[in-house]
Amino acid sequence: MVARAGAVLRAGGLVAFPTETVYGLGANALDEAAVARIFVAKGRPARNPLIVHVAEVEHVARVAADWPEVAARLAERFWPGPLTLVLPKHQDVPSVVTAGGATVAVRLPAHSLARALIRAAGVPIAAPSANPSARISATRAEHVVRWLGGRIELVLDGGPAYGGLESTVLDVTCSPPRLLRFGLVSPGAIEATIGGIALPVNVARERPPREDANVPLRSPGMLDRHYAPDVPLTCAVGDACEQARSMVYAGHRVGWLARDEDVGKDLPGLTVVCMPGDPAAYAAMLYAALHALESAGVERIIVSLPPYGEAWQAVHDRLRRAAIRDTPGG
Ligand code: TXA
Ligand code: MG
Repeated sequence: MVARAGAVLRAGGLVAFPTETVYGLGANALDEAAVARIFVAKGRPARNPLIVHVAEVEHVARVAADWPEVAARLAERFWPGPLTLVLPKHQDVPSVVTAGGATVAVRLPAHSLARALIRAAGVPIAAPSANPSARISATRAEHVVRWLGGRIELVLDGGPAYGGLESTVLDVTCSPPRLLRFGLVSPGAIEATIGGIALPVNVARERPPREDANVPLRSPGMLDRHYAPDVPLTCAVGDACEQARSMVYAGHRVGWLARDEDVGKDLPGLTVVCMPGDPAAYAAMLYAALHALESAGVERIIVSLPPYGEAWQAVHDRLRRAAIRDTPGG
């Protein structure tokens, strides 16, 4: 199956595959027409650049023009794994991949099936998350089939993507390096390896240039609304149970991402999903829980916010974005 998938990629096709974060929708990164098909399949704006995936550190040189010392140290510590590095782009990378920009985002995934696929293809693989643009990412093959099936050649089913949230994105073309997206590698872990980095203070306020669609975004992961389910989602302030019930009494079918202690509080019209108290387990389950509630036909989702603290930063970031409804995502 992997050999076949590699051949499909080499022939210009699209293959969805599992990684340790979420499922990716892959194409040969050096094939402009193939990469263009990713944008069509996802309905993704051309100004939102893609991450290029490699299976060996030595292959970074095929897609990036420079490999700064900080990048080498980070790769040594975190690769294979959920950290994406933004580097100066190699001239062989078609501009469709980088949305016309001079930098390219590169990642070496830890998932064995992802790496086997990249090796079988024999080329670097451009792959965004395998979901329609601005929707929540797919963490299971069935999510990909449901939303993108029919538009792509093949889905490699490797079971649930065990990390559950997209990779951390760090720009190392500037000094200090700048965090562009929170993810499973925390800012503290990065700083322990290379020293101080710039954090995305206020990035949530940054919006795409509305008028000129040709200007590339610095990182659309910074868009306010991104990673959002189709139904309105509210992060509860105060008593989530009370709020969920009042939505039910108002006539809605409601899904509630609750905490352990809320087991058994279901009532007709209210589906309670008890989320884990551990941040890694919560992250792994979040998108699958949202997909499941959507499939079950709920009309509103309410979330009991998990604790704060660095281990929960990426989860809070995604929940906050999922709750925003007024800004179209990238
Ligand atoms: O975990 C992940 O990163 C998954 C798996 C499949 O690898 N991929 C993923 O890709 O989440 P995507 O396209 O959904 O998100 C890529 C993020 C976007 O926020 C994009 O704007 C940013 O990376 N990005 C890509 N290239 C960039 C660049 N050259 N400069 C700045 N940001 C970039
Ligand atoms: Mg995405």
